[in-house]
Amino acid sequence: TWTTGNVIDEQVEAIRELVGDKRAICGLSGGVDSAVAAALVQKAIGSQLTCVYVDHGLMRKGETEQVEKDFVAATGVQLKVVDAEERFLNALAGVSDPEEKRKIIGREFIRVFEQAQAEIIADEGPAVEFLVQGTLYPDVVESGGGTGTANIKSHHNVGGLPEDLEFKLIEPLRKLFKDEVRMVGQELGLPDEIVQRQPFPGPGLGIRIVGEVTKERLDLLREADAIAREELTAAGLDRDIWQCPVVLLADVRSVGVQGDGRTYGHPIVLRPVSSEDAMTADWSRLPYDVLARISTRITNEVRDVNRVVLDVTSKPPGTIEWE
Ligand code: XMP
Repeated sequence: TWTTGNVIDEQVEAIRELVGDKRAICGLSGGVDSAVAAALVQKAIGSQLTCVYVDHGLMRKGETEQVEKDFVAATGVQLKVVDAEERFLNALAGVSDPEEKRKIIGREFIRVFEQAQAEIIADEGPAVEFLVQGTLYPDVVESGGGTGTANIKSHHNVGGLPEDLEFKLIEPLRKLFKDEVRMVGQELGLPDEIVQRQPFPGPGLGIRIVGEVTKERLDLLREADAIAREELTAAGLDRDIWQCPVVLLADVRSVGVQGDGRTYGHPIVLRPVSSEDAMTADWSRLPYDVLARISTRITNEVRDVNRVVLDVTSKPPGTIEWE
């Protein structure tokens, strides 16, 4: 019979046997899958595992701290954090095209990750032979099965495997679905904020700023996003919503009247959707009072934002993200 306890015990034993006295590396993205995979491998081999977290500066408010503090506290994992914000912002300077942004973020990510890997490998200690990946069952089916479902965006899963590396893979979640992964994570003692996290794209807020990505715009979007998340959580809506991108239309300006006068600021878009698998989605019919609270707070609390708009497009034709 399937229980989370059984899954954990089986995997722990298998991983111990496989790794022996060698070492393993795991990239953490802040997402559920890599966190649970890492926690499971940590349980099996302890300090023979080193996790790498690349802070690209495109995370939402509090997410980096969640990995650095809460995840480490819950698992005791050895973590190497690379602060690469400046590097990513420099690489993204002047770029507005979504696919170009994705390419740059993916490329820089791999470079930073490889550098961190090289440093770990150069450490004293047994050979690093293994790479941990949070691959789930649907990923296995999708990549092997060739369902032919065209997704026209290039999906860089940050944490993805550079092709020319010669690691052996450990994929402890290969047979599991998302809800099962969450159960395993819970059983392993991971905090709810990590285990129940909604999907978030690898390129992060970089593809939620329509226009050029700058530090100032990121900070502004982080504030707006944090307010939306706070209010949705307070209203008990987290489980009803698949995800709710909050998008800054940095290239658009709109006139407002705030305080003593006329302002010329930027709109924020709320994109709450319901979905089963992100392939199709419907816009969430959120209660008006929740929308009103989010709108009032964002326009009051976030500088340069004087308008909040709601995206009422299903997928198709609109994708979930704006870029
Ligand atoms: P779209 O916008 O294509 O998104 O409807 C479908 C799901 O994928 C996520 N998404 C990404 N995830 N790298 C990722 O790891 C990406 O480049 C990327 N683009 C979109 C999106 O958040 C949604 O869950």
